[in-house]
Amino acid sequence: MRAPDMNAGVAAGDVLLAVENVSLRFGGVKAITDVSFDIRKGEIRAIIGPNGAGKTSMLNVINGFYHPQEGRITFKGKTRSRMRPHEAARQGIARTFQNVALFKGMTTLDNIMAGRTLKMKRGFFWQMLRHGPALAEEIEHRRVVEEIIDFLEIEAIRKVPVGRLPYGLQKRVELGRALAMEPDLLLLDEPMAGMNLEEKEDMCRFILDVNSQFGTTIALIEHDMGVVMDLSDRVVVLEYGRKIADGVPDEVKKNQAVIDAYLGVPH
Ligand SMILES: Nc1ncnc2c1ncn2[C@@H]1O[C@H](COP(=O)(O)OP(=O)(O)OP(=O)(O)O)[C@@H](O)[C@H]1O
Ligand SMILES: [Mg+2]
Repeated sequence: MRAPDMNAGVAAGDVLLAVENVSLRFGGVKAITDVSFDIRKGEIRAIIGPNGAGKTSMLNVINGFYHPQEGRITFKGKTRSRMRPHEAARQGIARTFQNVALFKGMTTLDNIMAGRTLKMKRGFFWQMLRHGPALAEEIEHRRVVEEIIDFLEIEAIRKVPVGRLPYGLQKRVELGRALAMEPDLLLLDEPMAGMNLEEKEDMCRFILDVNSQFGTTIALIEHDMGVVMDLSDRVVVLEYGRKIADGVPDEVKKNQAVIDAYLGVPH
């Protein structure tokens, strides 16, 4: 994979993505209310909060699945009003889902290859001919995909249909598919949910390695507070769709509003 994108015009430590005063409603349900925070290039940013706090909705706003009624999203210095998910992907945002979303009948290799589709320049006609520029492009895609498979230590399952894999490995393949897009910003929705301790430790290691080796900025939703405190540079806390805290892990875990939210103390 390539080194961090130096042409993005955003240096390490600068704001890569800014969320400003975002509100999102579904009919009468206020999923997100006036939330602002930013994600700096190169950091691991955790988004935490009790069930129904609006965490997944926030990722869906960031990658263009949902359009907020109010507020703005600025990515790499460009403010957008509306954007579709494929446009977000093209601009360098990739994600994984709370419930694994893979092609269950397809192999590990093909699922990760599917993540490259957006990167393919040559059209279907050239792909059919499989020579000239299209062939060169396919060879390059295969090289990147094999590198990801190596990196995630999933060589042994490259030809296995993902529906047959244990859950922890399916999550790893899903991470592979997101990495195949070579994103600048990777959004992970509970990447460790449902995993045993060993699988969690592996996933933590991969997340840290993606961040340090490829320079990928990561926003991560996670319920396991130990994992959050170990992995993240900064944490934003949502409760009932509102932001109640934002800061480095040590600050956030001492914050009384956060402690109350997790203990279910009404306010
Ligand atoms: N598509 C939708 N239609 C209607 N309501 C929705 C939709 N998506 C989310 N909501 C509502 O918005 C609120 C926030 O949901 P969201 O899934 O973002 O929470 P979450 O923090 O990810 O929770 P969890 O930890 O359980 O995954 C909830 O009240 C939820 O029911
Ligand atoms: Mg969620």
